[in-house]
Amino acid sequence: MIRIEVDGTGIDVPEGASLLAAVRAAGIDLPALCHDDRVSPAGSCRACLVRADGKIAAACVTPAASGARVEAASDDLRILRREAVEVIVSALPSRALTADIPSELSHVCRSLGIGPEVAHRAGGRGGDESHPYVHLDRDLCIACGRCVRMCAEVQGTFALTLVGRGADTVVAPGTGGPWAESDCVACGGCVDTCPTGAITEPGPGRGLTSASPAAETRTRTTCGYCGVGC
Ligand code: FES
Repeated sequence: MIRIEVDGTGIDVPEGASLLAAVRAAGIDLPALCHDDRVSPAGSCRACLVRADGKIAAACVTPAASGARVEAASDDLRILRREAVEVIVSALPSRALTADIPSELSHVCRSLGIGPEVAHRAGGRGGDESHPYVHLDRDLCIACGRCVRMCAEVQGTFALTLVGRGADTVVAPGTGGPWAESDCVACGGCVDTCPTGAITEPGPGRGLTSASPAAETRTRTTCGYCGVGC
């Protein structure tokens, strides 16, 4: 274990732990939109900015160094994090924050004081509902890459990739065609990790969950090949 200081409080964390883990161990709800503990860190969203020994750093990709002094809760850092998340939200339609199903993104926005008025995208990127178990709403994708890493690193399927540039970057099947014709094995890892609701399971009245004859027989089972562990 090593000891670091987070906002003046000494915290013991395992060697190799990230600053994100250390700050959260200190009881601070640090946002982390592109991070999921189950996959490798990306450091792309900048929602987790802290100050470590005087320097601004993305906490998810910065290892905790013994004796480091970390600031996380100060007003200037909160403003930096809010500005980073506002850039992301500005490329989304307002329904990203007003949808009925609460998402990790809406939690983060609430905690940073970001409202739906920041979201400006008119929509129009469309979706992919070709697959019976996984639906994609491109307008809600923030290109955090969590689904891509979950698919590759946990499931070992490599079915997903990111396509496009800048604010138009979205997740897509690596095969280039519709999701139903991709290498997706329907493990649900991408649905589970998506922080915005861009990738979901079809709801009641849609897909195999309720509408088709296949949904009428329910069988308890455990898939033998899946690394997600749900
Ligand atoms: Fe750290 Fe996205 S969670 S940069």
